[in-house]
Amino acid sequence: MPDKKIKWGIISTGWIAHKFATALKVVENSELYAVGSRNIETAKKFADEYNIPRAYGSYEELVKDPEVDVVYIGTPHNLHLENTLLAFEHNKHVLCEKPLGVNLKEVNIMMEKAKEKNLFFMEALWSRYLPNIIKTKELVDSGVIGKINFLSAYFCFKSNHGPEHRQFNIDLCGGTILDIGIYNIFLSMLLLGKPDSFIANAVLSNQGGDNTCSYTFKYGKDTLAVMFSSFMVNTPTVAEIHGTKGRILLEHLWFCPGKVKLIMDDGTEEIFEFDFKSNGYEYEAIEAAYCILNGKKQSDFWNWNDSIRLISMMDEIRKECGIVYPKHDN
Ligand SMILES: NC(=O)c1ccc[n+]([C@@H]2O[C@H](COP(=O)([O-])OP(=O)(O)OC[C@H]3O[C@@H](n4cnc5c(N)ncnc54)[C@H](OP(=O)(O)O)[C@@H]3O)[C@@H](O)[C@H]2O)c1
Repeated sequence: MPDKKIKWGIISTGWIAHKFATALKVVENSELYAVGSRNIETAKKFADEYNIPRAYGSYEELVKDPEVDVVYIGTPHNLHLENTLLAFEHNKHVLCEKPLGVNLKEVNIMMEKAKEKNLFFMEALWSRYLPNIIKTKELVDSGVIGKINFLSAYFCFKSNHGPEHRQFNIDLCGGTILDIGIYNIFLSMLLLGKPDSFIANAVLSNQGGDNTCSYTFKYGKDTLAVMFSSFMVNTPTVAEIHGTKGRILLEHLWFCPGKVKLIMDDGTEEIFEFDFKSNGYEYEAIEAAYCILNGKKQSDFWNWNDSIRLISMMDEIRKECGIVYPKHDN
């Protein structure tokens, strides 16, 4: 791999930006070089906390810095399209938080631009790059648990945020599907592909986003994936993949760094554990840096078509549940 270090610029200073900045510290071929915020004081505070050489009071100033190689975008979903296009316009590679865009139309626009500009572009779907999820896929593909006939995945928690917060605010494309349901849907599609059919139902907020949603995917005649996401209830956030010979259990906070339990029908168990260097967000950064340094435009782990399939599925689920983002869907 080339010796060069790539220079990262972070757009936004919210919850996920802090996690990503922390993780970048352990990524060898990367330097956290700049941060951009809507407010210069916020940018300076963030820069001080993480020892970042450049702090900018607008996203535009950050993307205009010629030293920045790649931009990490951690703004609310509704801004991913606008912020990504801004970065592409200034010839920066982009790692954009999930969901890439809020619908297929937006994701297609982003990908067209990435293609036109010949730039690297990747969805920061961090779970895809975690060793425990990679191991889960390897186990499923190896056939050790036989043919999958049932998958269940939950991602539910009681949110303390008010209606203005991005989790609920319809103008910011609030709702569980794009925010947390995406992980359940990703798991099912990673292991089983696109379903042959599905049903979905949601409890909607006054604003029209979903506060709770259930979606069941059917594969062939005899496989179901049953999934829930909610901002209203605390449930164990677990995932299980049941096959004809055994099952894989991903315990509470299954989408985070964790272990993998393989439990065979004959009662034997194997537990796979992993050494995590930081909070888990380092893996997506390592992958992005690897791709950029090697001239790749998309990751082999989660490529543009994977992101397209995922957002298309979420579009279909939203349609089934009657969820519309008025500023984006028309
Ligand atoms: N991968 C994961 O595990 C994970 C976890 C949480 C969230 N996410 C994703 O990351 C994105 C941001 O989530 P978050 O929880 O970090 O959100 P957050 O804490 O609300 O932070 C969002 C940041 O975006 C910027 N921003 C720009 N315009 C904004 C607006 N109109 N309202 C609010 N903030 C605005 C702000 O930074 P400045 O003030 O500095 O401009 C703000 O701090 C979402 O798309 C979400 O899906 C991913």
